[in-house]
Amino acid sequence: MERVALDAGRLREAVVPPFSRLDVVSETASTNADLLADADAPDRSVLVAEHQTAGRGRLDRSWTSPPRAGLTFSALLRPSVPPSEWGWVPLLAGLAVVDGVRSTTSLVPALKWPNDVLLGADEGKLAGILVQSDGAAVVVGIGLNVDATAGELPVPTATSLALHGAAVDRTALLAAVLVHLDRRLHEWTDAAPDYRAACATIGRDVRVAIADGSVVEGRAADVDGSGRLLVGGRLVTAGDVVHVRSA
Ligand code: BTN
Repeated sequence: MERVALDAGRLREAVVPPFSRLDVVSETASTNADLLADADAPDRSVLVAEHQTAGRGRLDRSWTSPPRAGLTFSALLRPSVPPSEWGWVPLLAGLAVVDGVRSTTSLVPALKWPNDVLLGADEGKLAGILVQSDGAAVVVGIGLNVDATAGELPVPTATSLALHGAAVDRTALLAAVLVHLDRRLHEWTDAAPDYRAACATIGRDVRVAIADGSVVEGRAADVDGSGRLLVGGRLVTAGDVVHVRSA
């Protein structure tokens, strides 16, 4: 299948500034790993790959996407807010993906706390977000399924914009997500009302698998100033959420 390459020049014109630099490479192992290894990278450096050979997901999973079928990119941030508030970075990134998709298509994705972007009545996973930090910088990596066919998706629970009828210019979509990401990062926790409105998790019964093996179940009530999810009176910092469907 012939797929159009990203237009790096047009992207830079659209987003540098506010981003400090933007590079597009045809292939790398992982854009998150590359930026994390770049100790001198300035705040708001962006790296985009047309293909990743070892894309990383949350919880030691992988992220796979055929060349040019989606958007795989990372932004390195050196936030001025205290690290205790960095838990908001994945939430803000999720909002920026929703903003970018809404502004370039007629589709309205939703969010699953902390950082999955869902689309459609069956809540297919449209995009995933991986935030990693070395203490001084935060790297936010986003994988967004754009043109992938059903056969190209890594798991049946994933989806793409094309599978929902949207034909979108990847360059325009990426520029939109980055512009919204910059705006959301300026707002920081002021974006809480928008996050609550876009988040399909809040108000739902959920089951959260925590890394220590425990499971928290209950109604997800809200997120706090550190980006934690309040479930049945308990604050959850990180975990794998399942939206429990009522019988
Ligand atoms: C997840 O849902 O598990 C998170 C997936 C994050 C994937 C993106 S693709 C760009 C960036 N580079 C990586 O290696 N991972 C993130």
